Amino acid sequence: MPEPQQPCYITTPIYYVNDRPHIGHCYTTLLADVAARAHRLMGEDVFFLTGTDEHAEKVSKAAAERGLSPMEWATRNAERFRDAFRFMGFSNDDFVRTTEDRHTSRASAYIQKLVDSGDIELGDYEGWYDPSQEEYVTESVAKEHDYNSPVTGKPLEKRTEQNYFFRLDKYEGWLKERIENDTIRVLPPARKNEVLGRIKQGLQKVPVSRRIKPGDADWGIRMPNDPEHRIYVWIEALCNYLTVVDEPGRRKYWPATVHLMAKDILWFHAVIWPCMLHALGEEPPRTVYAHAYWISEGRKMSKSLGNFIEIDQLRAYAEKYSLDALRWFLTTQGPLGATDADFAHARFVEVYNAELANGIGNAASRVGNMIVKYFDGVVPACSKTGFTTESTEGHGEENKWDEIASELVCRSINACEEVRLDESLRAGLELSNRVDAFIAATRPFSIAKEIDKGTHADPARGREDLHAILYQSAEALRIASLLLWPAMPSKMAELWRNWDCSPLHDPDDPDSGFRAPLSELATWAHPRWGIKPGSTVRKGEPLFMRADAKEPAPGGVGS
Ligand code: MSP
Repeated sequence: MPEPQQPCYITTPIYYVNDRPHIGHCYTTLLADVAARAHRLMGEDVFFLTGTDEHAEKVSKAAAERGLSPMEWATRNAERFRDAFRFMGFSNDDFVRTTEDRHTSRASAYIQKLVDSGDIELGDYEGWYDPSQEEYVTESVAKEHDYNSPVTGKPLEKRTEQNYFFRLDKYEGWLKERIENDTIRVLPPARKNEVLGRIKQGLQKVPVSRRIKPGDADWGIRMPNDPEHRIYVWIEALCNYLTVVDEPGRRKYWPATVHLMAKDILWFHAVIWPCMLHALGEEPPRTVYAHAYWISEGRKMSKSLGNFIEIDQLRAYAEKYSLDALRWFLTTQGPLGATDADFAHARFVEVYNAELANGIGNAASRVGNMIVKYFDGVVPACSKTGFTTESTEGHGEENKWDEIASELVCRSINACEEVRLDESLRAGLELSNRVDAFIAATRPFSIAKEIDKGTHADPARGREDLHAILYQSAEALRIASLLLWPAMPSKMAELWRNWDCSPLHDPDDPDSGFRAPLSELATWAHPRWGIKPGSTVRKGEPLFMRADAKEPAPGGVGS
């Protein structure tokens, strides 16, 4: 068996631990999980990283409000993220916390390297200071409040302080060219244009440190060359992508194949981070992908509206409809492109019934049940890869299954390479829908009945047709299930157990890894991996029970 070759590195943002996780954090991490699984299925050597960003001021503030130390609060919430990700079935290879030594030590070393190379230098920072809050506010916030404190209303002061700055301005030309020619792919395309538009307005030095003030919580990483300053949390957080693989055995994963995130933090990932990497002598990421937002029943989710879709609600969905159904819905209906997506219960049920219960679930049951009924569960032999169906007009339609399947496998792989994960999965659903249409057109149940009753005009031909229809349908569904697996690993493993054809090392463990890459597994009637005539199909439980649209949303989400 060939060893997995191409290293592939997939990351999510590292999430703030000032509060608990919600659907947004789960969504980006789910996309990363689906991508990681798809690349593993293709035979690549994948490293999938997620984790938590802990040194933000809002973390120490939230801790203080609860009478806890920042570390206690960070640890509690980091555990909540870990729990949520375990529940979602994520297959991340590591989980980084920025308070870990492996991160803090290497992040300081990178900053020192940038100081040594002259890419980080001391400079004056001028801004509107709020003495009552001991913090700077941005020009726009200052203006909005008539140059008074947005919190206390007391006058702001124009102040200058010394800070360290990263010379982002030096790399404007370098970055622009690389984004333009897709050496650094910024996706989806609308985001690339947006970022280029902003770069063209000019890049300025960015502050990378904050001077420590009396009374500040002792929280964060100090500037290695000047302990009176703390490294600005964003700058240090970005370093996590490198700190975790900057060790023997993991260097092969750099540069990152794709950094995933939402549009809110694209600038940091598509502009500041690649330039920092270049200044460090490291290659920039290959792809930076920024999706849009989940909104809830038409409104932006926010703390003040209190309308976040919480993990408990997701758990309630998983309990009622299965975790894989939830994963399918989120991945295929989520805000993967440039537009926001609404989480609405009615839509969930519609998609669940149409694509899962009546889609892949029904196709698999139908085919499995017919093999059980007409062949005592023994897969019939069939040497043909095509089947001509008679249309009512008398023209035959040729179903060249090997070609149909390989075209959809290619489509799925290509979409995955461009992070169009919904389309990649849809290719699997399309294959399963083709099987459904094939059965509707060939009516194997009628053929079987006619043979049984002795009314078939040519019983020998009828039997041959029945063999071909059911073998081809089963084999097409087996290939469809491979394409659907990244979103629905447990349900597809269940199908493979029922059909006695598991491509997994351990049929009971959907994470056990594949015994061959997709290029082999998805070959039509592959002598080793294809559905084998003579093997046994068990009549299992339906993969997805039909849902009643009138039932209320589990966990109280929306209408
Ligand atoms: N800590 C920084 C990221 C540092 S990465 C080096 C941060 N953390 S965060 O907790 O605010 O997470 C932001 C990310 O969470 C978004 O980029 C996105 O991945 C996810 N989402 C948060 N809310 C979301 C939605 N409403 N919808 C979709 N994803 C969203 O920023």
